[in-house]
Order: sequence, then structure tokens, then C-alpha cells
Amino acid sequence: MENKNEIENDEIYEGKSIGPINIALIKYWGKDDEKLITPLNNSISLTLDTKEFYTETSIKITKIKEPKEQKEDIIELTINNEKSKITSRIKEIINQFKLLKPELNKNPYSYIIKSKNTFPIKSGCASSASSMSSLVICINKALKLNLSKDKLSQISRIGSGSACRSIINGISEWIKEGNNNSHAIQLYDKDYWKLNVMLIIVNQNKKEISSSDGMKLSKETSEFFNYRIKFIVDKHIIEIKDSLKNKNFEKFGIVVMKESNNFHAVCRDTFPTINYLNLESEFIIKCVEEINKKENKIICAYTFDAGANAFLIFEQENRDLINNYFEEILFLDNDNNLNDFVKNIKSKKPVNGKFYKKVIFELGDGAY
Ligand code: DP6
Repeated sequence: MENKNEIENDEIYEGKSIGPINIALIKYWGKDDEKLITPLNNSISLTLDTKEFYTETSIKITKIKEPKEQKEDIIELTINNEKSKITSRIKEIINQFKLLKPELNKNPYSYIIKSKNTFPIKSGCASSASSMSSLVICINKALKLNLSKDKLSQISRIGSGSACRSIINGISEWIKEGNNNSHAIQLYDKDYWKLNVMLIIVNQNKKEISSSDGMKLSKETSEFFNYRIKFIVDKHIIEIKDSLKNKNFEKFGIVVMKESNNFHAVCRDTFPTINYLNLESEFIIKCVEEINKKENKIICAYTFDAGANAFLIFEQENRDLINNYFEEILFLDNDNNLNDFVKNIKSKKPVNGKFYKKVIFELGDGAY
């Protein structure tokens, strides 16, 4: 009986997992090593809850019965039920696990991966982070390896740099280290500071240039890029860590917005120029500035990754206030009862501007 179980375990491994998105406060933009996917600077992000937006992954790893006919592993991936290309990064993730589970090298195996996203992919909503972190957790579960968070984060990094942060609960920092050990660590637990994040979707289309290609081009062509790495990022990291330590939202908000602006300035300085923001994004930036002015302090901060969709960050105690502002400005059709402040901002809304949806997140757990 024992023997039979052993054979079965050795033949089929199955797992399921969920991966969260994360939003970078300090942006990763530029690789030290393209192959290893190690970054030129540390980055810091918030892992978001998985109530509505997440990637769900399942895997079935089966020993191939006729290894004489099929000598190589078979890898199949479907994303939202559509067959997808197997990238070298996915192959590399599997290779990393094969190093940790030698049985998988003795015989060819088939890896059937099914991935589902509950949100638009490749539009600057961090789908690579949720999908790659989820894939790594999924394989770890299937193979019952019980790897440490550090190791899981390190392997996720190979799938997509920012994915290494989606392994971590709450607020994390990806440490650059110039070698394959580079991974993210936790700075604070999700309950440390009740921050909320409102994502406003203004664009559901695929971005014009991927983050990977965009950051490579910035490194090659932007003069401002080196200046950012040398003089800006580390300063922002010190400032943001200080604001986190003291839970000082004013300081936090300012550095988050300046960091986003700085990153997008590097994109504009790239040649040919990259502009991830659109008129709707610019309008949301204006709204945040006006709201902060009206409230006489920084209560809301904006940040954008490589896409036009806006991530607004605020303390939970201001959630209703900020949600109401954006509901009235962007989504409410009936203007009858609006106050002058909101009416005035609304009058500047881009003609034909499209604001699809807003979702509010709390900080959440790493992929599980
Ligand atoms: C702007 O992690 O998608 O979102 O490592 O090439 O897969 P690759 O890039 P990716 O880049 C994310 C860039 C960013 C900033 C960030 O998340 O830190």
C-alpha cells in the first residue's frame, strides 16, 4: 500500500493558488541584469487585498507515461481559457523548481497551468505580479516544498520583477542585491497602518509598450534615467521609510506623488518617448491636487505604474470623503445637488473622457 502511494505521489502533483496585485510607491524601472531580472534600485510597494482583483492559478503536473516517445517536458498554459505562449520566464520558473525537486528531472513531465485574471491584463494593473506570484505559490503547493518566503519571492522575481513583492503581506521592499538572491522582504504587516487604495480604471486596453521593453529603452536612451537612479530614488526611499515609521500621511503622500511624477518624467525622456498617462489620468491628478487644497492638507496621493489607470492612496478614516468626491466628479450623472467645488472640477473633465470603474482595496496578504 505504502508503495502504491509513493508511485501515485510521484506521478501527479496538483495545486491551486491566488496572487494579489501590488502598487509600487517607489518604482522599479531599470534592470541591472536582464536575464536574472535584478533591479538597479530598491522598490517599495503595497500588496492589495484579493476581494475583487486577483489571479487564480491551478496546475497539474503529471509524469509522462511514454518517455521514449516524449522526451521533453510538455508545458501548457491557458490564461482566461485561451491558450497562451510559454515564455522563457515561465520555463525558467519551472527549471528553478526542478532544481529543488530532483524527481522531476528523472522523467519528462507535463505541466498544465490554468490562470484566470479577474481584471484587465497588460493595462498597468500589475497582472504580471499577481500571475507570476500566484504561479510560484501554486507550484510550491503542488510539489509540497514548503519553501521560505524569501525563496518564493526570489523565484517569483524571475517571472516578473515586481511579482517578488506580491509574495509579501502588507508593505514590502524589494532589495536590489546584484545576484540571483535578490528578493522582497516585509517592511510592515498589512494591519500596521490602515491605508486604502482606490484604483480608477480609465483604460482597459493593452499598454503600447510593456514595462520590460519600456524600462530597457529608458535605460538605453534617457539621460534623466541615470540621474533618477543616482540622486532621486534613494532619497525617496529614505523619505518614504521615515513617513511610514511615523505614519505621517502628509510626508508619505508628497513623496508618493513626486516619485510617480519622477518615474513618468523618465518615461517621457525616453527616446522614442513613452507616455503611459492619458487625459483621464491627468484629470485625476488635477482632482487630487484640488481636493488636497480644499481640505487644506494632503489626504490623498496618486500614483501610476506603467499604465493610465490611477491608484489613489489615503488613510481609511478618509475613505468615505474621498470616495464621495470621486463618485460625484467621475461617475454621477445627475448634477443637481452638487456643491460649487465639485461642479467646478467637473466642468474641467475631459470631453468624452471614459472612467470605467473604481475599486477600493485594503492592504492584503501575499500570494497564497
Ligand atoms: C512600473 O515587473 O512588469 O510597475 O520585471 O520586466 O516583468 P519585468 O517588469 P515589471 O515592471 C513593473 C514596473 C512598474 C513599477 C513597479 O511595479 O515597481
